[in-house]
Amino acid sequence: LSSAPPIQLAEMYFRLHPEEVDPVWGNPCDDPRHKKIWSKKKSCDSLPKFLVIGPQKTGTTALYTFLAMHSSITSNVPSPDTYEEIQFFNGNNYYRGLDWYMDFFPSDSSANSTAVTPQTRYMFEKSATYFDGEAVPKRAHALLPHAKIVSILISPAKRAYSWYQHQRAHGEGIANNYSFYQVITAGDSAPKALKDLRNRCLNPGKYAQHLEHWLAYYPAQQLHIIDGEQLRLNPVDVMNDLQRFLKIQPIFDYSNHLRFDAKKGFFCQVVSEKRNKCLGKSKGRQYPSMDERSAKLLQRYYLSHNTALVKLLKKLGSRPIPQWLKDDLSTGT
Ligand code: A3P
Repeated sequence: LSSAPPIQLAEMYFRLHPEEVDPVWGNPCDDPRHKKIWSKKKSCDSLPKFLVIGPQKTGTTALYTFLAMHSSITSNVPSPDTYEEIQFFNGNNYYRGLDWYMDFFPSDSSANSTAVTPQTRYMFEKSATYFDGEAVPKRAHALLPHAKIVSILISPAKRAYSWYQHQRAHGEGIANNYSFYQVITAGDSAPKALKDLRNRCLNPGKYAQHLEHWLAYYPAQQLHIIDGEQLRLNPVDVMNDLQRFLKIQPIFDYSNHLRFDAKKGFFCQVVSEKRNKCLGKSKGRQYPSMDERSAKLLQRYYLSHNTALVKLLKKLGSRPIPQWLKDDLSTGT
């Protein structure tokens, strides 16, 4: 009996199993053999119980901030590169491995309430890039099959425009050199940076397509969809529904902790009788309304996607159809 040297053997193995070249991190606690060889300091209780997946520009920072106010809910520690978002399941961070991911979740000594044990503490992370990340549902499900998945939706046209404004505010040359209309109508012969911006504006808004991808891995009961307009206008009710969905105890009474701030034009955290703590300048920006031509084009562009979304929402149960979706469809025909 003879054997090839290890590297050659590995090369041979991956030639036979090319689908295994890309690693998929499973949950160590699902396999007693893996659990046994895992560090004693690690515990599956410190993996997130739910994920806020985005998409970007739908109010994910507001939701993250409101969740972090809850005494039973703990988020990851911030990343030096991507701030509150870990962005593990999409992009190259995934290859940094499970230990890298888990280091973002504080040990029980840093829980924000002594009455809350790791078992009752709800860990979560929010990475708004997860929503439309091609590999994300598969990877997330392999590691966190029981996690609940929370998504926020607003009008996809409004989301696209908010993303464009976000890029402009960040001084992105391409967004400052082209109008929104020029971006969304860029053809395939346009410069790469312009096409990339067009895609980042338009693609995440194909909501039904992305949600179906998540539903190929997670059962519908684990998915909660928030109407982002309701989160903006009526966050207390939205947070109550979300707490019920997550089965979080004790229920936190947000009506005492969130208040509309006339100057900001959004709900903010109550700090004292007269003081509110609002999200920073980059959230809830002031910019001119979308031009008529772009609005019309996007209504047509998203028509089939929005129609599919209505169908999907109906299939998922008695969720009320968001008003923005009805409006987008009524003027889009
Ligand atoms: P605009 O800045 O375009 O108005 P995200 O955090 O996912 O990037 O989303 C940003 C959007 O959240 C903002 O987009 C804003 O409209 C919305 N939003 C919802 N509730 C908010 C709140 N309470 N404070 C600030 N922005 C809020």
